[in-house]
Amino acid sequence: MCGIVGYIGNKKATPILINGLLRLEYRGYDSAGISTIENDGLSIMKDKGRVKNLNEIPGIDDLEGTIGIAHTRWATHGKPSKENSHPHQDNSKSFSVVHNGIIENYNELRKFLTDNDYTFYSQTDTEVIPNLIHYYYSKDNNDDDKRILRAVKCAVNDLKGSFAIEVISKYDKDHMIVVRKDSPLVIGANEDEHYISSDIPAILSFTRDFYLLNDYEFVVLSRDSAEFYDKELNKINKDKKTIEWNASAAEKDGYEDYMLKEIHEQPTAIRETIGSRLSENTKIEFDELNFTKEYLSSLNKIFIVACGTAMHAGLAGKNAIEKICKIPTEVDIASEFRYRDPIIDNKTLCIFISQSGETADTIAALKLCKANGAKTLAVTNVIGSSITREADYSIYTHAGPEIAVASTKAYTSQVVLLNILALYFAEILGTCDKVNDYKKDILELPKKIEETLDSCKNINAFAKEIYQEHDIFYLGRGIDETVAKEGSLKLKEISYIHSESYAAGELKHGPIALIENGITVISIMTDSKLVEKTVSNIQEVITRGAKTLVVTNQNVDQKMFDKTIVIPETNPFVSPILSVIPLQLLSYYIAKEKGLDVDKPRNLAKSVTVE
Ligand code: G6P
Repeated sequence: MCGIVGYIGNKKATPILINGLLRLEYRGYDSAGISTIENDGLSIMKDKGRVKNLNEIPGIDDLEGTIGIAHTRWATHGKPSKENSHPHQDNSKSFSVVHNGIIENYNELRKFLTDNDYTFYSQTDTEVIPNLIHYYYSKDNNDDDKRILRAVKCAVNDLKGSFAIEVISKYDKDHMIVVRKDSPLVIGANEDEHYISSDIPAILSFTRDFYLLNDYEFVVLSRDSAEFYDKELNKINKDKKTIEWNASAAEKDGYEDYMLKEIHEQPTAIRETIGSRLSENTKIEFDELNFTKEYLSSLNKIFIVACGTAMHAGLAGKNAIEKICKIPTEVDIASEFRYRDPIIDNKTLCIFISQSGETADTIAALKLCKANGAKTLAVTNVIGSSITREADYSIYTHAGPEIAVASTKAYTSQVVLLNILALYFAEILGTCDKVNDYKKDILELPKKIEETLDSCKNINAFAKEIYQEHDIFYLGRGIDETVAKEGSLKLKEISYIHSESYAAGELKHGPIALIENGITVISIMTDSKLVEKTVSNIQEVITRGAKTLVVTNQNVDQKMFDKTIVIPETNPFVSPILSVIPLQLLSYYIAKEKGLDVDKPRNLAKSVTVE
């Protein structure tokens, strides 16, 4: 879980590389480094710590090179240290390499190279790569302009695992080689320069035109050209894609943090995600899908598989699909699903949710489903991401780039898209007679999200009251329980406060033993059928001295609770999109009160491209 950047052009590379790394820090931030091609060979500067420390390395301002590679690390093999930081070089310092991913067979390769007199200076899996390239380069007697490319290809053939790699060499001062497998890498192109990055937003201020790579595609980049090769080094053609995202969408726009900005972008994100797919009194359109009534009626199960927040969006999706399409739906954590021998066949539809489209476990689960004959559908926010290249069908949330590690607008966009998908299925199947009412509920969401944001104006005061707590509990029933889970995750992620979520009815079966005087319990109540039951559960914790916050759109006696946030009325079908917002903001203000780095919480990465 790292970020890589590259530049080849006519400008000084170092400032561009550091700018890109700063934007990729969400992918990892325990070490950083760069290597450029200078007149006298390859420079290399790296150290543990954040990207801003790089700027303080003596001599970094003197680098003049216009070709360079850079890396921000999130340690997997070997602790954060200068030696383990990227770029890594071969023993002769002829090749510099940055790598994102994991080389699974690195022990075996290390042994092979050690037997061939190579020495290792780090504990990383990556260090085998430059040495393998050197090994194959020195074995090749044909000194033509493809010699480095052949060496990179032979080295890549030996690697098992996942990788996005950039290579520069002192033997060729005008080119860079990049290749990927199962780890993200995009190439931005202008007339006489190329930018390489782990994601699009990091280089969106430089270009909107991108080449998207498939697994095992090799690219030889010069300033003004990009040559593409397949696994066997046959030349292939590739077209550029123009990305419509606005560069300012990846900036903070005056907000203190990306997370706060992204929370406030939810009305727009939902508006964009609804787009032209849904309008009152016309059938829902998904140009990307061609499901027939026959196919949908043949399904005996839908699996929704994802990780983290995306999995919580899946829980809301299950609620909608089961209620209005009457298809049994199971939600699973990708890392569990893939190892539990799930029963999958051609009567199963498997839906994978991933904001980044790069989450390793989710992609592996998708491959498993495909191999077992199921149709696969990806729900993602990133056009051309790895998951979209594996799935039979892909549909996109249009949340715009999400930079903060803790997901907010991606979650609400995923929930709304799953709801629209459920309605689309229901229209085809004819299983729901209230489709038009539900459509209206969805279309009213952007305005209601604005009202919800307004209703949270004083939530920072409650955050001030509770930010020093050690344990916080979240309760809900039905759809509200899925939101309780997401609220609790948000709090853990950015405030480091221990929190748990429970189905309110389960309280008496254990968790109530933890309730003591002064402990905070946060409850969500948006379903009129369940509100009385949940109020009784809250009463039970109040009796035991709990401090209570309630997020609701129901008619309840607010005097019972320490704090109530009233959100607009809506159908429980879409209520997570509103009820989660106060919980996002509460976590945000608690973390701020504790003085924490909200956008880059410790130990977490935005995109988990390792298993
Ligand atoms: C990481 C992120 C979470 C995200 C999860 C799944 O854990 O920190 O915010 O929900 O990965 O990511 P995906 O990109 O697949 O939605």
